[in-house]
Amino acid sequence: MRLAYSTWPEITAFLVDSKTVVIPIGSNEQHGPMGLLGTDWMCPEIIALAAEKIASEKNTALMIAPTFNIGMAQHHLGFAGTISLRPSTFMAAIEDWVLSLARHGFDHIYFLNGHGGNVATIEASFSQIYARYSYTGETCPLMLKLKNWWDLPGVATLCNKLFPVGHGMHATPSEIAVTYAAYPEQVRHVDLIPKIAPSGPILDALDYRARFPDGRIGADSSLATIELGQEIIAMSVQGLLADVQEFSAQVKPA
Ligand code: NI
Repeated sequence: MRLAYSTWPEITAFLVDSKTVVIPIGSNEQHGPMGLLGTDWMCPEIIALAAEKIASEKNTALMIAPTFNIGMAQHHLGFAGTISLRPSTFMAAIEDWVLSLARHGFDHIYFLNGHGGNVATIEASFSQIYARYSYTGETCPLMLKLKNWWDLPGVATLCNKLFPVGHGMHATPSEIAVTYAAYPEQVRHVDLIPKIAPSGPILDALDYRARFPDGRIGADSSLATIELGQEIIAMSVQGLLADVQEFSAQVKPA
């Protein structure tokens, strides 16, 4: 079930049986010469929607929230098209999304993330939300979870097998393959020089551009294919269904 394609009475009815919602979250940022700017929000969205389809075929509704498609990407601002929220803005927005959903009764909120640069800020947002209750001594009804799609069961093992050399850290062939599988009309063919991009630390935007001139870090994006993307999506979907089921069953001690 997709929240944005539901009516409010349908959401009310859904909440009778389930209090879990999955929020795909990512970023709109450069992904080298072959990767789409939306790669980091598309990957979790593609996986979440494919999982939702399978769940609905089995008559077990999985609620997917609208995709949170702008993240913390200050280091990519040296490349055209990147849109970033600074950490403080991002935290405030995450808190408001969570509290809105909690207001209606969702109490298991699962963020399926597609951008490594979001992790610290999402975790800090969770602490900020929990702190509201910790300081007042009120019972917090919420369980919050962050999962990167590449950490879903089986996915890292598969990606290591598919790309033993040239996977890298940014504009990786695995994430680009996922987007190419979902949007075959968006496949790009580019001669990458060097084939495997340099690696190094991530600081500010100008430093990033100097260290990683075409935007990639350690990756050979040209290894991405539609077929490999389909394989990665299938593994990720199974992993997500299992992980969300386990999360939904978790209860806080009375
Ligand atoms: Ni990415």
